[in-house]
Amino acid sequence: MRYCPFFYSEILKKKRSTGEVSGYSLTLENAIKMKGLGGYFDVATKKVKSYDMKKYLLGVTGGIAAYKAVELCRRLIESGHQVRVVMTRSATEFVAPLTFQAVSGFPVHRELFDEAAEAAMGHIELAKWADQIIVAPATASFCARLAQGLADDLLTTICLATAAPIAIAPAMNQQMWAAQATQSNLDILMSRNIQIIGPGKGAQACGDIGLGRLLEPAQIIDHLKTPCTTLLQGQSWLITAGPTREQIDPVRFLSNNSSGKMGFAIAKMAARFGAKVTLVSGPVNLETPERVSRVNACSAEEMHQAVKNSVVDSDVFVSCAAVADYRPATTAEHKIKKNSEQLDLSLIKNIDILQYVGALAKKPFCVGFAAETQNLEENAKGKLQRKNLDMICANNVGDKQIGFDSDQNQLTLFYRDGTTYSIPMADKTDIAIQLVERIHQAFTNT
Ligand code: C5P
Repeated sequence: MRYCPFFYSEILKKKRSTGEVSGYSLTLENAIKMKGLGGYFDVATKKVKSYDMKKYLLGVTGGIAAYKAVELCRRLIESGHQVRVVMTRSATEFVAPLTFQAVSGFPVHRELFDEAAEAAMGHIELAKWADQIIVAPATASFCARLAQGLADDLLTTICLATAAPIAIAPAMNQQMWAAQATQSNLDILMSRNIQIIGPGKGAQACGDIGLGRLLEPAQIIDHLKTPCTTLLQGQSWLITAGPTREQIDPVRFLSNNSSGKMGFAIAKMAARFGAKVTLVSGPVNLETPERVSRVNACSAEEMHQAVKNSVVDSDVFVSCAAVADYRPATTAEHKIKKNSEQLDLSLIKNIDILQYVGALAKKPFCVGFAAETQNLEENAKGKLQRKNLDMICANNVGDKQIGFDSDQNQLTLFYRDGTTYSIPMADKTDIAIQLVERIHQAFTNT
C-alpha cells in the first residue's frame, strides 16, 4: 500500500493532470518522513487520514438514542479514525446492525459466544485492538452492569478485558438518571477513571423534560478530544467575555466586534478541568458551556456589578471581555429623531473592571487581555503594570486570521515577573487549553 501526505496529494493531483506523474508516487517511507505535515492520503481507501487517528470501539446499548450513534460512527470515520461496533441485544431492537455495518464498513459484533466472530476477531482481540472505548448511548442498566464488573455479554466483557480508556455517554429517562442507584453507579465508574460524557438536558422521547438526553455526536467527539480532569478542582474562576452595549437611545447602542468565542472557550476548558466557573457574558450568540454558571450583562456598568457580586469568592479572574471604554453621557428616553444635520454624542469614561479587581485588597490571580493593532509588547506590558495584573495575553487584532470574531487566535503571554510565553496560532479551543494550563501553573506558583 502506498501513502501520500495530503499536502503532497494536492501537488501530485496537479502534476498528474499535467502528465508529470502517472499516479501517487510517494512510498510509505517517504510519507513517514513527512509526518510533520499532519496527515496523509490513504490510497487504498482514498481517504485523508490524520496521524492522531485512533481505533475506536463503539459500544451501542438499547435506548431510543441509539440512532444518534450511527451519526457518531460516521463522524469518527470521516475524521480518519477506525471504528468497530459492538451492539447489545437490546440495541438491535432500536437500530439494525446492518446500518452500523454499512456506516463502519465492518460487520457488527454482537454475541459473546459466536464461533464465526471468535475465529475472526474475538472479545479479547477486540479488547486489545481498541485505543479507546466509547459507549453511546449507555443505558442505566449498562452503567449498573459496568459498575458491578459483570461480564454477561460481549460489551461488558470487552470493557472488563481492555486496557484502553473507557468513555460512556449516558442516555435515559430523567428520573432514572436522578435515581440514587444510578448516581452511585456513576460515582463508582468515575472513581475508576471512566469518562462520563453528558448527559444533556431537554425534552425526552418519553415526554419528560430534564437531564438524560444523549449529547449530540459532535459534542461527544469534542469531549473525547479533551476529557474532563480534576486539575482545577477546588478552584473558582470568574471569566468575562464578549462585548458590552452602551445604549444611546432605546434602539441604538455603541458596541464592538467581540464575538465572545475566546472567553467562552476559556470558560469551557476551565470547567472541563474541574474548576467552578462563573462566566459574565456580554450580549453574544453562543451556547453556555456545560457546568458553567452564566450571568448575562449588557452594559459595562452591568458587567461591573456582576463581577463585583462574584469576585470575592474567586481564585482566578480572567478578563476577556471587550468592555466599552466610553458610554453616552445620557441615554435618551425615546428614539432620537433625525431632525438636525449634525448630532453630537457626549461620551463619558466607563469604569475599568479589570483595574478595579486588580486593586482589591484580596485580589484573585488576575489575567487581562490586550487586543492591539500596534506596539503589542509595549502596550501589553504597560497594562500589566497599570492594572496590577499577574499575566496579560496579547494578540494582534489587526491580523484578520486571528482578529475579533475569528475562530483562531495567537497569544503572547507576559507574566508579572518579566517572563514571556508564546502560544502559536491555533483554534480558540486549543488556545484555551494551553492558556488554562499556563494560568494554573502560574497561579499555583504564586
Ligand atoms: O486598556 P484596555 O481596554 O486595552 O485593557 C484590556 C483589558 O482590560 C481586557 O482584559 C479587558 O477585559 C479589560 N477591561 C475592563 N474594563 C474596561 C476596559 C477594559 O475590564 N472598561
